[in-house]
Amino acid sequence: MLEIAKEEMEHFKMVHDIILQRGYKFGREEKDDYVNELFKFMRRGESHALSRVDRLLFAAMIEARSCERFKVLSDNVKDEELAKFYRDLMESEAGHYTTFLKFAKNMGRC
Ligand SMILES: [Fe+2]
Repeated sequence: MLEIAKEEMEHFKMVHDIILQRGYKFGREEKDDYVNELFKFMRRGESHALSRVDRLLFAAMIEARSCERFKVLSDNVKDEELAKFYRDLMESEAGHYTTFLKFAKNMGRC
């Protein structure tokens, strides 16, 4: 988990650097309807173990969605530098969602 958190922060810095290098300003974070709607499906009042499995599956879906979006971007953007950057992020996100799924499966066995 710590490795994923470190990687996410590195990605954030990389994105921030690219935004600045290209002369753009970093905007305010906007609410993500997909995330908010998905969060509503999280079970409440369940055992600690079930709640943890839900959180892991929630995280896995968020990461898988990112992976899918980076795939579409890397396949379609004309800028080669960005295409490679998005491809690298896609691979990283694939590692994240599979890690969360693995943790959820292991929790389900407890
Ligand atoms: Fe991620």
